[in-house]
Amino acid sequence: MNYRVELCPMTRKLCHELYKSWENDAAIYMDMSMFRKYVYNKEAVDRYFDSKQDVSRRIFAIMFEGRPIGEVQLKQIDMEKRECTLSIHMQNDSFKGKGYGTEAEMLAIQYAFDEMEMEAVNADTVVKNVRSQHILNKIGFEFLKEEGDFRYYRLEKSR
Ligand SMILES: CC(C)(COP(=O)(O)OP(=O)(O)OC[C@H]1O[C@@H](n2cnc3c(N)ncnc32)[C@H](O)[C@@H]1OP(=O)(O)O)[C@@H](O)C(=O)NCCC(=O)NCCS
Repeated sequence: MNYRVELCPMTRKLCHELYKSWENDAAIYMDMSMFRKYVYNKEAVDRYFDSKQDVSRRIFAIMFEGRPIGEVQLKQIDMEKRECTLSIHMQNDSFKGKGYGTEAEMLAIQYAFDEMEMEAVNADTVVKNVRSQHILNKIGFEFLKEEGDFRYYRLEKSR
């Protein structure tokens, strides 16, 4: 498959570039009273970037035509169980619905299995986020359960 996007380890510079044009997406809020319009703040982005630098997480910028258009994370990395959890968010609506998110998820999964030697990748979505569920189903995740506000998915490495 030819991918139009690529994943690049997130840097502080890329993180600022990404969040300067960021929009929060209502699809990830089960409780809409928590939803706020995103407002860029340099110090907050610095704090956000610093908070993501730990051994249990890899954070990537989703790059398209030389600029960041989203971020994808492999988090809760468990080196003993060899599993992690996928999370993704595109920068704003202009980069959604064009197939970039699906490509980025596939690249992240490939990275988890091939580079990090994970045996499984987990994912969860809020119940109402049917777009994200559609993509997880499409790329082969197994639906495990619905519990509370969340639906849980898992993809085992194929042998
Ligand atoms: C989820 C997200 C990363 C997907 O990226 P994207 O680039 O918009 O998605 P794509 O264009 O690759 O694919 C969207 C797919 O969902 C489908 N879709 C869109 N709206 C849908 C809906 N309401 N119900 C079901 N499927 C839907 C599209 O038809 C497409 O599937 P197809 O390729 O089989 O036609 C992006 O929309 C996003 O950042 N959303 C906000 C954050 C988020 O939800 N993150 C996931 C948290 S679990």
